[in-house]
Amino acid sequence: MKNDTKKPKTSATPKSPSINQMWGGQFSSAPADLLAKINVSVGFDKQLYRQDIRGSIAHAKMLARQKIITEADAKAIIDGLKSILSDIESGDFTFQDALEDVHMNIESALKERIGEAAGRLHTARSRNDQVATDLRLYVRDALDAFDGAFMALQRALIKRAEEHVGTLMPGFTHLQVAQPVTLGHHLMAYVEMAGRDRHRIRDARKRLNESPLGAAALAGTSFPLDREFTADELGFDAPMSNSLDAVASRDFALEFLSFAAIAAVHLSRLAEEMVNWSSVQFGFIRFSDAWSTGSSIMPQKRNPDAAELVRGKSGRMFGNLMSLLTTMKALPLAYNKDMQEDKEPVFDSVENLMVCVQAMTGMVLDFSVNKDKMEESASEAYANATDLADWLVRELKLPFRDAHHVTAKLVKLATGKGKKLEELSLKEMQAVESKIRKDVFSVLATIDSVKSRTSFGGTAPANVRSAIAEAKKLYLK
Ligand code: ARG
Repeated sequence: MKNDTKKPKTSATPKSPSINQMWGGQFSSAPADLLAKINVSVGFDKQLYRQDIRGSIAHAKMLARQKIITEADAKAIIDGLKSILSDIESGDFTFQDALEDVHMNIESALKERIGEAAGRLHTARSRNDQVATDLRLYVRDALDAFDGAFMALQRALIKRAEEHVGTLMPGFTHLQVAQPVTLGHHLMAYVEMAGRDRHRIRDARKRLNESPLGAAALAGTSFPLDREFTADELGFDAPMSNSLDAVASRDFALEFLSFAAIAAVHLSRLAEEMVNWSSVQFGFIRFSDAWSTGSSIMPQKRNPDAAELVRGKSGRMFGNLMSLLTTMKALPLAYNKDMQEDKEPVFDSVENLMVCVQAMTGMVLDFSVNKDKMEESASEAYANATDLADWLVRELKLPFRDAHHVTAKLVKLATGKGKKLEELSLKEMQAVESKIRKDVFSVLATIDSVKSRTSFGGTAPANVRSAIAEAKKLYLK
């Protein structure tokens, strides 16, 4: 997403702390070095500069409209903030550790640029509602970017599924060959998962989209604010109703982290399949050079590093969720400095989930399929045993449990002879169940097995084709 393009710099060597310009009025000596060290957050929260400036501009506009500050001061503030924004974007701004966080860095730069008027920006505002607003805007931007990224993944999966509506492969349970399916059907399963991930994004966005701005430190303010106006300026649906809740709640961040953790589970499962399928033992797919890495000692190796990293990075996504849940648990209302720890897990999940979903999209579009190998293994390991049992039920009216028993005996017989089920002779079959007829062979071919799975949501190519059409309508707008 846009936020990741350029990381603003921070002054490399922190000077010894001096008395804080913003809150140091009653202090006669500087904080201990270690207090400054544990307190400083600008190294990471500078990532919020866009949202911070956007929030401040909305606040300044509103203050002028409400005649809390003059139009002239508001104009100076807004112009100053815009010049700071462009300096940060072009890399001409140095964030200072001594100024603690992104908010005070920007306000202090504003003071340097426009003088006294800068001091009026913080009227009827606190860093508590400011940071809550910034982080909501940041998470909202991230959710929007993820909606697009997961749609791109769905598009890639659907494209590959369309190519492989009729490509036979073994379906697995317990990673043991179970019944034949098609590769198209298998890939479409991940389209559904990504669809629910996107639904979670939409739900989270709706709940997140209320403005904390104007809650001030915790109690609201005596100034005649127009919170509807700032909410509207920032694209929020409404101002939050309770000032304590507005500054104290981070469940919007937890919902984002939950979404990220669950989406990471889905990506890790697809990644695991790719690792398996690209191995020599499976031999189902092959990645091009663009998505393979070599080994410095074993010249023959083609490693699926990207898939392994998608699988591996799910760990930090779960950790980030656990980290913020633990930070927030049992915090008394309203703001507590503990909550400064909310940002790094969120930033980390945004950055890593984005690279994972994009890499996965690249891999899905890249792999080539060894159809023969897939089809061959779909006809091995008695994947058609259920088709035989179903035939016994349908044609001979055996109770399913008896059909299961008869089929198991036939599998045992075939295993002993080193044959597939369809390679047994009719005589051999009739020795196990005398009523079996020749037309049993019509259900034993892999393709027929797959074609017969026409129940809603099943793997028959006709069904997969209509599932693809539905998915395009639903997801690819
Ligand atoms: N850097 C702080 C944070 O991220 C900003 C809010 C500070 N508020 C305060 N009351 N000290 O939470």
